[in-house]
Amino acid sequence: MAGVRTALPPLEALVRAIGDDRADPDLEWVSRLSGSDPPKVRNTILELGRHLEDVASIHSAHLGGGRDFYAQIRAPFELYALTRLLRPTHVLEAGVSSGVSSALFLLGLLDNGVGALHSIDLPTVQKGPTLGKGESPVSLPPQRDTGWAVPPELTLSWDLRIGPSESLLPGLVESLPAVDLFLHDDLHTPTHLTFELEAIRPKLHEGSVVLADNTQWTGKAFDRFARSLGAEIHRRSGSDLVGLRVPARGRMPPLPAPRPARARAAATVRPARPKPARPTARRRAARDF
Ligand SMILES: C[S@@+](CC[C@H](N)C(=O)[O-])C[C@H]1O[C@@H](n2cnc3c(N)ncnc32)[C@H](O)[C@@H]1O
Repeated sequence: MAGVRTALPPLEALVRAIGDDRADPDLEWVSRLSGSDPPKVRNTILELGRHLEDVASIHSAHLGGGRDFYAQIRAPFELYALTRLLRPTHVLEAGVSSGVSSALFLLGLLDNGVGALHSIDLPTVQKGPTLGKGESPVSLPPQRDTGWAVPPELTLSWDLRIGPSESLLPGLVESLPAVDLFLHDDLHTPTHLTFELEAIRPKLHEGSVVLADNTQWTGKAFDRFARSLGAEIHRRSGSDLVGLRVPARGRMPPLPAPRPARARAAATVRPARPKPARPTARRRAARDF
């Protein structure tokens, strides 16, 4: 009825609907990344209550695909909140699998009424009818495609690209005016994370938010990137999902490529000449953007 607001279900109902207790949102984390206070973050997440059926359908899709426990991103509701609060024009993610993160980004964009999600995924496929011992739960069950748990009506305006991020990400970034929100959740190695962070760097701007999951496996890659931007790292509680907000220093050029090992070795045998102190590559990048 017009003018009458129905009571939104509490956070607990959302956590129950998605079927994973670890999804209990960290309001402070979103607050630090978005600049909105925790009560505002909470109210924003509660607005997701209007999509409770979609959230529950993600869980039932997982059950239908033989994933009674699915190692999804721990922070689905935070992704929705960040999307609502930052109002990004271009959200990028690497790593989709069944599409929990994608679905929550898409719900946020739907409620914003603006913005697009660009996702990249190179799927692995489950070998038999049931998940084998040692097989990853992020593999595709039989007859499923990448994003198989995303409610179909959300997929209509989704820019989903299938293939390795190594080949697809640079061209995608090149085609966009800006990267407002980025999530790394694909191949968790230091080299790959560094590759993705450097690929998006030219299109970041003040206020862009960059997230990386499973940083326990990616060494110091995220720390180095944050340092080069002069940004503070914020860790989501109960997980190794981290994020940063690009500080107010304008757009950044790529870091200068490291000198080849041979050139470095040659440089060390040259007689030392007194030189004026030069900033290191990292300090230069931090200063120049
Ligand atoms: C952890 S899952 C993504 C989970 C998803 N973000 C969610 O919230 O449900 C990682 C996905 O990245 C894919 N992947 C692994 N290496 C990749 C690469 N080099 N390029 C693109 N996708 C890759 C995996 O096959 C898998 O589908």
